[in-house]
Amino acid sequence: TTVETSAPTGPEPPPPVRDWPACDLDGTGFDPVLAQLMREGPLTRIRLPFGEGWAWLATRYQDVKLITNDPRFGRADVTRRQVTRLAPNFAPRPGSLAWTDQPDHNRLRKAVAGAFTVSAMKRLRPRAQRILDELVDGIVRDGPPADLVERVLEPFPLTVVSEVMGVPPADREQVHFWTRRIISTSGGAEAAEQAKTGLYGWIRTIVRARAHSIPGKDGEDVYTLLGAAVTRGEISEEEAVGLAGPLQIGGEAVTHNCGQMLYLLLTRPELMRRMRDRPEARGPVYDELLRYIPHRSTVGLARIALEDVEIAGHRIAEGEPVYVSYLAANRDPDVFPDPDGIHPDRDPNPHLAFGNGPHFCTGAVLARLQTEVLVGTLLDRLPGLRLAVPADEVRWRHQTMIRGPRTLPVTW
Ligand code: HEM
Repeated sequence: TTVETSAPTGPEPPPPVRDWPACDLDGTGFDPVLAQLMREGPLTRIRLPFGEGWAWLATRYQDVKLITNDPRFGRADVTRRQVTRLAPNFAPRPGSLAWTDQPDHNRLRKAVAGAFTVSAMKRLRPRAQRILDELVDGIVRDGPPADLVERVLEPFPLTVVSEVMGVPPADREQVHFWTRRIISTSGGAEAAEQAKTGLYGWIRTIVRARAHSIPGKDGEDVYTLLGAAVTRGEISEEEAVGLAGPLQIGGEAVTHNCGQMLYLLLTRPELMRRMRDRPEARGPVYDELLRYIPHRSTVGLARIALEDVEIAGHRIAEGEPVYVSYLAANRDPDVFPDPDGIHPDRDPNPHLAFGNGPHFCTGAVLARLQTEVLVGTLLDRLPGLRLAVPADEVRWRHQTMIRGPRTLPVTW
């Protein structure tokens, strides 16, 4: 930890700048550096492994909600800077929702919103169930043991997302190959770059091919919606490609979040019993686990203060970068009593696992649907489901943005 003194910028002296190295955390434990930062203050300053300088960090629930819903903090400026960050490489594309401020953000989001509505998700559910049933048929046919990551957690979100996006069946194998390459940590940076070029080139072609299709008549999938929006001149082709990429890759979050969730269930018998004994009351347990799961390493994407803003006794000056931690907010004792305990009946449970404000996760309803189908079906169809190795032998992903088990060997 280093201490950096600079001219005071607010009513309170600025807190010291803390180094936050990328730790490879195994299991579902809470990052000890984040826990320390939460103790040090509602507002601290951090330096991550890459990029330049330092950034503010907000960890309290109320501050996180405020910052993420306040137009005085913007994302677009981050793309023109080298803000301190976890990721070694940084090449945001135009059109990505994550990097866009209003009014562009609304315009872009509107172009794909139709594919993610609650009613679209309702129509998707039986298809998602069929996809999962086929995967479970496969492991039942082959018999135990099975690696749930390889057999279910990876293929299920890939296939469901391709349904939502409207990837033609003939192209799926190729699209899934690129997606796996992009998100995998083992193939190397060069392979990932090549896969990106391949995937983004394919996306451009499909958006062009769907230019004259009619949403509703020809489908309500994302590529149909995007093709039509480009034809109507609401978004550019460049934006359509940048918008689609993160959605096509976004299923990865479900793989790892559900991986952590299943690990928690498989290692906490009382929680597993509760899920099995009261299948009709699983909803609140999913929410409590979403609140509890340490989904990501360190923090996500920064915002930049577009003017001076005073928060928690500090002045954040115009131009300074700010991170929020949704993980920390989800452990705020003022909002969640006994925040480090898993309480299946917690009520209310206003967790921020999917973020807050305009950048709230586009795929939240989709992710929730997949979680219910995936976890629920595995519990129902495999009553004896248990780990095939001791819990401390489960291997975890390292050097990744999103935390989760690398393999999940189970038997039943
Ligand atoms: C943004 C969580 C699944 C697409 C986000 C954010 C969080 C989040 C915390 C950031 C909010 C912010 O920037 O302030 C999760 C979790 C998931 C999940 C926990 C699974 C359990 C998905 C899926 C998709 C998706 C399945 C797409 C198919 C996106 C996109 C954004 C986003 C496009 C950027 C939205 C914007 O900036 O406007 N997600 N997500 N996510 N997520 Fe998810």
